[in-house]
Amino acid sequence: MKKMLSGIKPTGELHLGNYIGALRNFVKYQDDYDVNVFIANLHTITFPQDPEEINKYLHDAIGLYLACGLDKDRATIFLQSDVLEHANLGFILACHTYEGELDRMTQYKDRKSKGAEGLSAGFYTYPSLMAADILIHDADFVPVGDDQKQHVELTRDLAQRMNNRYGKLFNVPEPLIQKVGARIMDLQDPTRKMSKSDQSDKGCIYLLDSVKSARKKIMSAQTDSLAQVKYDVENQPGISNLLTIYASIADVSIEDAEAKFKDYRYGDFKKAVADVVVALLEDIQGKFNDIVQTDIISETLASGKAKAQAYASKKLKLVNETLGIHI
Ligand code: TYM
Repeated sequence: MKKMLSGIKPTGELHLGNYIGALRNFVKYQDDYDVNVFIANLHTITFPQDPEEINKYLHDAIGLYLACGLDKDRATIFLQSDVLEHANLGFILACHTYEGELDRMTQYKDRKSKGAEGLSAGFYTYPSLMAADILIHDADFVPVGDDQKQHVELTRDLAQRMNNRYGKLFNVPEPLIQKVGARIMDLQDPTRKMSKSDQSDKGCIYLLDSVKSARKKIMSAQTDSLAQVKYDVENQPGISNLLTIYASIADVSIEDAEAKFKDYRYGDFKKAVADVVVALLEDIQGKFNDIVQTDIISETLASGKAKAQAYASKKLKLVNETLGIHI
């Protein structure tokens, strides 16, 4: 069975972009792949965090993984910091990553171009840690939203570089990026990606938002004055984003969604989008509230840690031996 691996960084509550671009696909793949998903908590400290908050987000993220349908008996669900081998391989891979490659990473370039100062070395080298997350488990496929594609490409380059230099050490993974929903946009500024780190959260729907607030965010989403429900990202980014959200949740094509709402006024169209989002949130939150009453989260992490570590420690041993670090 092919191995699928992915992770989410718990720097805030998980949002609809994480769900549509990543999480719901992890769930779908459970039937056909050996699914491995983790919480990338080491990645959160590339920027300063409040330890209590980060712990709550992490706990909620595991609860949400389960509430969205990941099955702890079929998938391996674990915490990145529980498998120390990730960080160890991360350093080894950082030693094989060129400075120029890290300079070209969009997230780093964006921050730099906005004049960010005091960026940490951890943030700069984070793509090497992400590569380690993937390579230490020999993943075949990495389902991600399209903002992570560049990181998976660097991962492939690193795997190939290591294999050329030392003989076959790693599987070369492939990104899995969906055609619809790989980049859900902010509801208030549909030219920007929906993101947990936004200043204002009016444009971001969190999976644990109250349904009242989620409905309000959709109803006040930015649109345009063209008065036609049409998928045209350039001229109608807000409407196109709402069509994408609807199509992804209702599991229909963009064309079918467009045809369905062709004669709708914007208010009625938004109401239909809000209805599917609210139904989704009600379902997820109902399950989440049951899960947090039980010990399932700690049981999930304990069994996930054992399985993930068993694989990662063998892989790290092989890498260490190959590089002459430890024989
Ligand atoms: P993170 O936490 O930013 O996002 C988690 C996943 O959600 C996707 N995503 C989106 N998809 C569609 N629309 C959006 N607005 C949107 N926002 C986020 C992301 O593409 C991602 O798939 N570096 C990673 C975490 C990570 C990882 C890994 C992922 C660490 N190691 C190894 C895969 C494999 C990150 O910060 O994702």
